[in-house]
Amino acid sequence: MKTLIVYYSLENHVKQLCEKLAERSGADLLQLHTVKPYPSTGAAKFLVGGKSALAGETPKLQPYIFNAEKYGAVIFASPVWASTFTPPIRSFVEENRDRLKGKTLGSLLSYKGGGGDKAQAKLREYLTGRKDGKLKAEALICEPNKKDPHTENAQKLDNLARLIKTW
Ligand SMILES: Cc1cc2nc3c(=O)[nH]c(=O)nc-3n(C[C@H](O)[C@H](O)[C@H](O)COP(=O)(O)O)c2cc1C
Repeated sequence: MKTLIVYYSLENHVKQLCEKLAERSGADLLQLHTVKPYPSTGAAKFLVGGKSALAGETPKLQPYIFNAEKYGAVIFASPVWASTFTPPIRSFVEENRDRLKGKTLGSLLSYKGGGGDKAQAKLREYLTGRKDGKLKAEALICEPNKKDPHTENAQKLDNLARLIKTW
């Protein structure tokens, strides 16, 4: 079945991951952009984005095309903000709840070092509507740095790509 990766990325880590995943799995990509951009520098970056994520905001999205009937599966990809997923993902899901019904769902999250598991659980619960809900596929990627290159990330992405190709 055809898969769409719906993603939001402030600083392009998630964007790069999604592009790799699409290349390896044959999935299509849909990048979300907010009408009012989140700050990407200084303290405001963390304050504004973190507060918005914690408050469960649904910022207005720039126009996008979601041909729901074309896809059997949707992967939601997001950075972790304040131990949860980002508001634009919430906006998209709220706008398309009915059209997402019955589809195979998955998640891909990128974080820096804390709260990744929590964010994964929150997105899982939000998408399934149940505390014990399950997604068909999940990948949690810790942003690589010089001290900790996270070599297993490539494997995680490959595993997700393989799953997408075969479902
Ligand atoms: C507003 C904000 C809040 C963040 N909160 C967390 C957090 O709680 N835990 C964490 O490990 N990283 C946190 N990060 C770091 C991002 O999750 C991480 O850098 C991610 O890979 C960025 O993806 P992007 O480049 O696609 O935006 C935060 C970043 C921002 C901007």
